[in-house]
Amino acid sequence: MQQDGIALVAFDDSHLDGALRLSQEAGWPHRREEWAMLLALGQGFVALDGATVVGTAILTPFGNDHAAISMVIVAGAMRGRGLGRQLMDTALRHAGRRECRLTATAAGLPLYEKLGFRPTHEIRQHQGVPTALPEPALPDGMALDWAGSEALPALAALDAQALGLDRRPLLRLLAQVGRVFLLREAGRIAGYGVLRRFGRGEVIGPVVAASPDQARCLLSALIGASAGDFLRVDTPEWDVLSPWLAARGLVGVGGGIAMRRQARQASPTGPAKPFALASQGLG
Ligand SMILES: CC(C)(COP(=O)(O)OP(=O)(O)OC[C@H]1O[C@@H](n2cnc3c(N)ncnc32)[C@H](O)[C@@H]1OP(=O)(O)O)[C@@H](O)C(=O)NCCC(=O)NCCS
Repeated sequence: MQQDGIALVAFDDSHLDGALRLSQEAGWPHRREEWAMLLALGQGFVALDGATVVGTAILTPFGNDHAAISMVIVAGAMRGRGLGRQLMDTALRHAGRRECRLTATAAGLPLYEKLGFRPTHEIRQHQGVPTALPEPALPDGMALDWAGSEALPALAALDAQALGLDRRPLLRLLAQVGRVFLLREAGRIAGYGVLRRFGRGEVIGPVVAASPDQARCLLSALIGASAGDFLRVDTPEWDVLSPWLAARGLVGVGGGIAMRRQARQASPTGPAKPFALASQGLG
């Protein structure tokens, strides 16, 4: 597509440097690796002014029924000319009849509302240099250990129960780039959490568990395993986790509004639910 000298094209590896420059200009912490990971999991779209990347959006399908949209950015000088809407329209066309989820910034919210997205809940971002505190006692009958790739099928089943999404490709990739901690109850996987490099340091997420106590056990273990420098957690369960995270040096620094379009009936089936996100973009 071509308009006012701007072309909308498929995002490929040759656009990674331009996209990285755009996210840095917007003050976002993503590294080239994070852009590449999103591209590997889905389809991206870029707006090009000549050879310069001036807009981006990425669609990440989760099975046939759901998708996430992330990295919607338009260069500062090009905003307000309809580029954001064109990028979103393109992503939504490719999403087809899937339910689409995203986390909106204040800048993106009006655009998403016009496109039919509706707010579902608030996400809070916590970050900082973690303070090690004594780990909470594990609930009776529970054990924590690092997962190998053999745990992936059971972990993906728990994740699907908790979110109602098929995130197997994402989980496989996270297990390659990060470390996965499992919470087991009588040998069965009851929860999990992932620690990986991200942006300025590391990020913990997803964390899936059946209760705030279980989530705190996983978070404590992952904080303890982190390098001890800059660490980030994005949580939808801020009412039960925010003070606890802040006491560990991970202070609240804002967040975003989770939104859905063409919402399908929520289909989580297990007691587990997400306490931390893989990222604001991926949920
Ligand atoms: C959000 C962003 C991508 C929008 O890009 P853009 O090219 O300026 O958006 P558009 O010009 O296509 O505007 C889209 C629509 O939203 C409306 N809109 C944009 N900002 C608005 C605001 N602050 N208040 C009300 N409406 C607004 C426009 O009027 C337009 O509506 P229309 O299509 O009915 O005319 C851009 O501001 C940006 O990159 N921000 C920084 C990164 C960011 O926060 N991204 C969102 C991540 S979730």
